[in-house]
Amino acid sequence: MHIFDHKKELMFFLQKERNNNRTIGLVPTMGALHEGHISLVKKALLENDLVVVSIFVNPTQFDKKDDLEKYPRNLERDLKLLGLVSENIIAFIPSVDEIYGKDIKSKTYEFDGLDKVMEGEFRAGHFDGVGTIVELFLRTVLPNRAYFGEKDFQQLQIIRKMAASKKLPCKIIGCPIEREPHGLAMSSRNERLSKTTREEASFIYETLQSAKSKFGTESAKNITDWVKDGFEKNPLFELEYFQIADEDTLTPMLKKQNDTKYRAFIAVYADGVRLIDNLRLN
Ligand code: PAJ
Repeated sequence: MHIFDHKKELMFFLQKERNNNRTIGLVPTMGALHEGHISLVKKALLENDLVVVSIFVNPTQFDKKDDLEKYPRNLERDLKLLGLVSENIIAFIPSVDEIYGKDIKSKTYEFDGLDKVMEGEFRAGHFDGVGTIVELFLRTVLPNRAYFGEKDFQQLQIIRKMAASKKLPCKIIGCPIEREPHGLAMSSRNERLSKTTREEASFIYETLQSAKSKFGTESAKNITDWVKDGFEKNPLFELEYFQIADEDTLTPMLKKQNDTKYRAFIAVYADGVRLIDNLRLN
């Protein structure tokens, strides 16, 4: 496995590979890798000759200093894990200084309202930070394809919008959510949950599944009220939002349209950790 921590060396190496007609996949991550990340890496390896996995805890997408500081980091373990997957992986692990220099701030983007709802409403500036770092990685790596999880579905749609509006010549590929055995969506943040909470957190996925089964017969408002009620009765979790929205525009569903795909989105606090999940409804 090749490891780079400077953009220039990585770009030089990749240019030589491109000259030899080798295709490149990109999987951006913030590390603390788990099976969710690895599923993206494996898909990228099937579809490309080489896969660049970036590991970078991006400061500009954190709205809370505390969340940035507590974000799990385990570089040694991450590199070991990637090394076991394939030798065609290139790890890119830049420092904050290498990426931002002394000016640690985001660019601003026009995401056509995709950034105004849900995660955007509750995490100020988050998507400008994500847009900034992902655009930089796409321009540095110049991949044929870049892979993102549906776990962060809003992020996936925003990156699609950014790549299209900047005319970046790269295919953005969405990948299904990997879950723990009880249904909790895998996340680096799960490491911060107590054993009991981690087991009980299957409640989040169970709620999404029940919302899906109610979706055929009940209104979005009734389902939302039912979800809120369920969380009020559960002292382990605090619901931040539950939203049924159009998958493409992310606007909340008012009246069901036959030709529209809907998804249920949820954000929950457990043990002071913020967890998100979503499920396709139709
Ligand atoms: P991170 O949370 O590390 O996630 C990296 C990628 O893995 C994202 O595309 C995310 O959606 C995907 N992923 C995480 N958990 C998953 C799961 N359980 N199943 C499938 N895919 C999963 O998302 C980020 O980092 C950052 O915002 C980033 C895009 C790297 C920009 O800094």
